[in-house]
Amino acid sequence: MNPIPYQTVLVTGGAGFIGANFVRLLLDCPGFSGRVVDLDALTYAGNRDNLAEVERRFPGRHRFVHADLADFAAVRRVFSEEPIDAVVHFAAESHVDRSILGPQPFISTNIVGTFHLLEAARTAWAGRCDVRFHHVSTDEVFGSLGEDGKFCETTRYDPRSPYSASKAAADHLVRAYHSTYRLPVTVSNCSNNYGPFQFPEKVVPLMILNAVEGQPLPVYGDGGHVRDWLFVDDHCRAIFAILAEGRDGETYTVGGGCEKTNLALVQEICRLLEERLPAAGNPNLSKRDSPLANYTDLIRFVPDRPGHDRRYAIDFAKIQRELGWSPRVDLTEGLRRTIAWLLDHPEWTRRVRSGEYRQWLERNYDHRPE
Ligand code: NAD
Ligand code: TYD
Repeated sequence: MNPIPYQTVLVTGGAGFIGANFVRLLLDCPGFSGRVVDLDALTYAGNRDNLAEVERRFPGRHRFVHADLADFAAVRRVFSEEPIDAVVHFAAESHVDRSILGPQPFISTNIVGTFHLLEAARTAWAGRCDVRFHHVSTDEVFGSLGEDGKFCETTRYDPRSPYSASKAAADHLVRAYHSTYRLPVTVSNCSNNYGPFQFPEKVVPLMILNAVEGQPLPVYGDGGHVRDWLFVDDHCRAIFAILAEGRDGETYTVGGGCEKTNLALVQEICRLLEERLPAAGNPNLSKRDSPLANYTDLIRFVPDRPGHDRRYAIDFAKIQRELGWSPRVDLTEGLRRTIAWLLDHPEWTRRVRSGEYRQWLERNYDHRPE
């Protein structure tokens, strides 16, 4: 891969799941010798723990700024303090179920926050061409697919949840800044990520941890909804490729080439967990009133998510053809790595599930553990 031609990269949301993986891989990448400025509000989903390795290994190349994108003055201050020449914008409210229960923070962070960042970049960069604003978005902006077909860069927008509508609004703002002010931008719309550091409200870590703890595995509706699973390292490599060689003003759709129904995904998690921690020897399962011999016995079909998109799938031909990127980690391997990471980091799980998140769960979900 070509080197990344930027020296001071502002990463927003670097204490979250994908952001933390990206910052670590970027600082480890031989093609990048610069610094990362990490701006994060440390919401329930952002954890300084996620950056502990980075802060230990790269003390001179990483600065953490605790700030909220809603605070325009704070965002502008970062641009005045640092010679930022690239932005990689991850920070967002990212969970669909939360957006259904309470959309307000999605509007404030995903739309207004993106506007603040764009405006600060436009003002600071004042027409420069040797800079880049990369916006990380989702395939959910395209709505739901039927049995056939895939999303690609030219698919019409049709967002259906408050989360996807807020991301769609942000995508439009980013493109508007390119057309109106010639701000150098790129956009990526990717499919569902999974891997280390993912907050355990998302389906993959939720199912792994619930199974380990002998708790129900809540599958929404009939379990026939399809997602295209992308291992987080593959996603981060795609963003490197776009930063290194992506063309100004372009959009790239990024997917894992790995479609699964939710039920098949949960069954695969149960199978792989059985390899690593057999149910018969798991004390959380054997101490139940009616001991279970198999993780799949924990699967429970629960009421469907309102407006639940039926199928997502990504055509990644453009980024493959133009930038030579394709996913390397298949679902089985990626799930094995994710299971191993979660089992090896119980303290991380305990910490991220405590505090604000725990109180929110208690208010909103009767059927969830913890
Ligand atoms: P995450 O929820 O794990 O992390 C979000 C981070 O943003 C957290 O560190 C949080 O503290 C920070 N943040 C939230 N509001 C903020 C604010 N107002 N100001 C500053 N920081 C704030 O999210 P993620 O899963 O890592 O997703 C990162 C990006 O990738 C998001 O833009 C999301 O829409 C996009 N994306 C995610 C997926 C996925 O499967 N996780 C798929 C496609 C696209
Ligand atoms: P999720 O991880 O919330 O990601 P997204 O909504 O962004 O795709 O959910 C992935 C899929 O898993 C989605 O189709 C909803 C489903 N799901 C369940 O069946 N049970 C659960 O407990 C959760 C959180 C999700």
